[in-house]
Amino acid sequence: MGVHIEAKSCAYAETVLLPGDPLRAKSMAEDLLDSVVLCNDVRGMLGFTGTYHGKKVSIQATGMGAPSISIYAHELVTEFGAKRLIRVGTCGAMDPELQLGELVFAQCASTNSSMNRHRFNGMDFAPCATFELLESAVNQARNKGVSFKVGGVMTNDFFYSDDPESWKIWARYGVLAMEMETSALYTLAASKAVEALSILTVSDSLHTGKALSPAQREKAYQDSAAIALALL
Ligand code: HPA
Repeated sequence: MGVHIEAKSCAYAETVLLPGDPLRAKSMAEDLLDSVVLCNDVRGMLGFTGTYHGKKVSIQATGMGAPSISIYAHELVTEFGAKRLIRVGTCGAMDPELQLGELVFAQCASTNSSMNRHRFNGMDFAPCATFELLESAVNQARNKGVSFKVGGVMTNDFFYSDDPESWKIWARYGVLAMEMETSALYTLAASKAVEALSILTVSDSLHTGKALSPAQREKAYQDSAAIALALL
């Protein structure tokens, strides 16, 4: 039992999908899994275990931001035996070619979070995805005809920045998209020697300010969930 995940009468699977939004965790579990059991509702941060084509899988919401996902990923690994953490989230496109609804597989994550500066005594760590998961996700996306890009993302502590131009430095260095969790997820996975990948749906564009409608988000999530579940 963890401080933030109780799971009194429910075992987590070795593979856990991690959406940020608890209600997304619920709808994914209800729509995509069989034999679904509620594992956690502490703080409303819903977690479920079920099966997908007979294989056991869990879905646990993480909340937003590096500290929040770090807490859930830590407890999933140390208390509940998780071995493969797959974030299914959204991102804001910085790459001008990325279209709304396309997927980004995060190969690595830059960040302005100070967590790793504390963890590594002021030195830099390069958080990266587990290559085998990334490779499988690419193969699955190609097979399914899903449009995607692979590359770096920027894990931002700010959703609302004082400087509306601040994202441009990352874009200039070829970072594809902005989000708020991947650097922490990849670092936590490295520290515990487990696997991790972030599969991100482009929900908005930092260039145009355009964003997916709720209906388009729903459809786009289905692509990322289908790929995440195909990794089982
Ligand atoms: N910034 C940070 N996180 C996000 C964004 C964004 O523009 N879009 C979706 N998640």
